[in-house]
Amino acid sequence: MAKAIEDIQTLGEIMQAAHEKLSRDHWDYLIGGAETETTLLRNRQALEEIAFRPRVLNNVSEIDPSTELLGKKTSLPILLAPIGSAEQLDPEGMLPAAKAAAEFGVGIVKSSVATPDIEEAAEKSGADLIFQLYVRGDDAWIYEHLKRVEAAGYVGFCLTVDSAQYGRRERDKVKGFRPTQRSRVSGVNYQAALDWGVVERLRTQTELPLILKGIATAEDAEIAANLGVDVIYISNHGGRQLDHGRGAIEVLPEVVDAVGDQATVIIDGGFYHGADILKAIALGANAVGLGRLYGFGLGAFGQAGVKRVLEILAEEIISAMALLGVTNLAQLSPDHVHPAAPVRLPNPTSAFHLFDVDDGPY
Ligand code: LAC
Repeated sequence: MAKAIEDIQTLGEIMQAAHEKLSRDHWDYLIGGAETETTLLRNRQALEEIAFRPRVLNNVSEIDPSTELLGKKTSLPILLAPIGSAEQLDPEGMLPAAKAAAEFGVGIVKSSVATPDIEEAAEKSGADLIFQLYVRGDDAWIYEHLKRVEAAGYVGFCLTVDSAQYGRRERDKVKGFRPTQRSRVSGVNYQAALDWGVVERLRTQTELPLILKGIATAEDAEIAANLGVDVIYISNHGGRQLDHGRGAIEVLPEVVDAVGDQATVIIDGGFYHGADILKAIALGANAVGLGRLYGFGLGAFGQAGVKRVLEILAEEIISAMALLGVTNLAQLSPDHVHPAAPVRLPNPTSAFHLFDVDDGPY
């Protein structure tokens, strides 16, 4: 039985509470990936193939896990990633998560395919919001959204570039389940038609930091950085788009190598614990995006659940930093990590080894 929020001390308990609370359809949409879910599992596998090389006797009595992202202070090196159809997790959509992000001092990305709308999310949350757009029209259509986003005081504008087609989510397909935001999709071909020219033109339209989410190679990272993209967001969409991709963190070193100091690097894909996040920071990421992890908090307990996720994550990050022998994030370097054999085979919830959630047959 899942616990009441006051009794929860670990992230696995929040995952378990979400599993109990959400309908099977909504759980599968959240946890699942595309086709054979190989990319999804590789995200975890790749993280588990990294071990730490801790340093000792560095006086870690005061630890500061904060950093800067898009010119804003963030209390942890994280960003809450866009979740499409967030209203399946909470009737108010992503708003409770945005309020928790504001309370905790971290940023959040509002998906164009989640409620509430651009203006309401900004007015009611008080968060440092980034807007993520799925393109459903021509350049003029994109710029209309950009103007609304600028007027509403967002701190960044993000295009998702790994979604020329919507991934084949077999968990949903076999049940005939359509997420809320896919019952009213039109103009999807504009997303398929995106090219570097769109990015180049968009760059001339705004002073807002521009983020490309879904970069998976050094080659594309380099093109983006040369076009003046501010944030290279490494992602395979949590394994929800192209199957048989690399684990996200496997992509990180080549991207960091390619862009140097030219752009900020964010990464997501399978990050469920403070230690996972510190592996990416050690390898040169500026911040780590979290999707499903705060989705568990939102689905299980709304705003309070997301806040609890962030609190526990902060405890985990501070604990791991102390044990690694660093007092701030800038001290982490590739010298703190080492290749290792994974200790278990991944499954979608294997990051929470105490909890074996049984989904039964389809
Ligand atoms: C998904 C889209 C909506 O992965 O981002 O479900």
